[in-house]
Amino acid sequence: MKLLHKSLFYSLLFSIGIQSCKTINTQDQDVEVQLSAVSYNGNIKQIIDNNCFYCHSGESPSAGMDLTTYDNLVEAVKNRGLLNRINNASNPMPQSGLMMKEDRLKLKEWAEKNFPLEANTNSITVKTPTMYYKAPELTPINIDNEGFDFMTKMQGHWVGDIFLLGQKIPWFAFDFRAINTSQIHGLFEGGTMGNLFNTFFVAEYKGVKTIMLRNGGILADIYRTSYFVLTEAENNEYLFVDAYGGKDIMWVKVSFKDNKMKMVSYTSRMGSNKPSKHMEFNGSLLHSDLAQKASEKYNFPTKEVVKRFPNGMPLADWGEQYPVVTSASYMMQAGNKSYAELGELAQDPIQINDIENIATVDLSFKRSDLSKDNKISVYLSREPLTDNNGNFKTEYGYISEKMMNEVLLFPEISKSQNNFQLTYLHEGKCYLTFVIDNNQDMTPGKGDYYSESLALDLKAGKPLKIEVDNILKTIQ
Ligand code: HEC
Repeated sequence: MKLLHKSLFYSLLFSIGIQSCKTINTQDQDVEVQLSAVSYNGNIKQIIDNNCFYCHSGESPSAGMDLTTYDNLVEAVKNRGLLNRINNASNPMPQSGLMMKEDRLKLKEWAEKNFPLEANTNSITVKTPTMYYKAPELTPINIDNEGFDFMTKMQGHWVGDIFLLGQKIPWFAFDFRAINTSQIHGLFEGGTMGNLFNTFFVAEYKGVKTIMLRNGGILADIYRTSYFVLTEAENNEYLFVDAYGGKDIMWVKVSFKDNKMKMVSYTSRMGSNKPSKHMEFNGSLLHSDLAQKASEKYNFPTKEVVKRFPNGMPLADWGEQYPVVTSASYMMQAGNKSYAELGELAQDPIQINDIENIATVDLSFKRSDLSKDNKISVYLSREPLTDNNGNFKTEYGYISEKMMNEVLLFPEISKSQNNFQLTYLHEGKCYLTFVIDNNQDMTPGKGDYYSESLALDLKAGKPLKIEVDNILKTIQ
């Protein structure tokens, strides 16, 4: 069962296949490798080096175009008409005349196959138990010397936009608050589509007191957490790299400027590609009062160690089919299992019940109100979105910008889902308002249905149960 789930997951995650990892080496040279026709490392790089290197490399390459790296070559094919030039007899590249037809066809095929980096050796190497991966030595920042200021800077309610999975989402927020003396936590809860949490904590990594990041959530029905360790802290920029595979596998950079915070992450499909941009969040600090309260309550920040990893990260068992672990990542197919069960199955070194002072809310929708056959947006906000008369606070027919910026989370629950658990929530007072987005513009406004805002006081260890059947009004 477990393996079945895992293979399902890996087919999702490693669409190129872990066996093509650039960073993975095979020990056994006798392994027979079947090369498919084209790949960058297999033959394309050689063709380019032989024919273009002389002019398109070095400090001032012809046309300002260096063709010695994979990324640059892909860029040139996509945006600089490379395929046209190498096939254009009256204006050829190289200038001395067309290359052999065979080589030109290989480049064309390579582009058509979407630029494979390595040959596809699929069925053969997967079963080879001799594959190994040598993780780099990581040098964490010692927070007794530098970098500890990160914890203070990260606090607050950051509101801005995000680029995620190739999409730009215009409104997004992270609410980072202390959850104990030396740990800070923020969550994006998307509802049915999944969630994303980030928890920064003081850790001891191979004997060095440093800051680590636990990042993860449930996305596309996969539970995943990944651990990062702080390896650079300079000029208001903090770099966290995969706590096992380092920067080649994935990394997150957080930088601060004036009242702004930028968080960028790069991932490599567990080493099968060069890392490329996965997410970029740009936010402004809108409110810091909730974070301030939390920091007073927990006497934050101190350098008290939350978790020790004396020998680095424990490596998960990714299943027999995938013997090569390249990352401090812990994964499991989600299905209908609870967070606690998933953490255990995934061998996650920190599980939800180990995280102090976070709260849970269980929502159940009866659907005999206006939510029948509709998806429900659940707005969790600092201030109520409805006034004393139960009217939705609008401006020109829409939720006012001021109120929108009070929103901490707004998960969407699909129309077929009648139960949903909100996890990883901050303790304290907040409001819940349910909205049916009739015109599907993702903004509460005229004609949308809503419930009056409900005041909550969230406490860890005491899950709230809320039955929802009060979406009865229409925004005027
Ligand atoms: C002897 C030098 C030389 C060699 C060898 C050479 N190039 Fe060029 N390349 C140039 C110069 C100079 C230019 C700029 C003038 C032009 O566009 O013709 C250029 C321009 C280009 C451009 C257009 C770039 C743009 O943005 O307009 C492409 C694409 C290109 N080269 C691809 C190649 C490829 C692929 C090879 C090898 C198969 C190659 N070149 C080999 C000198 C060279």
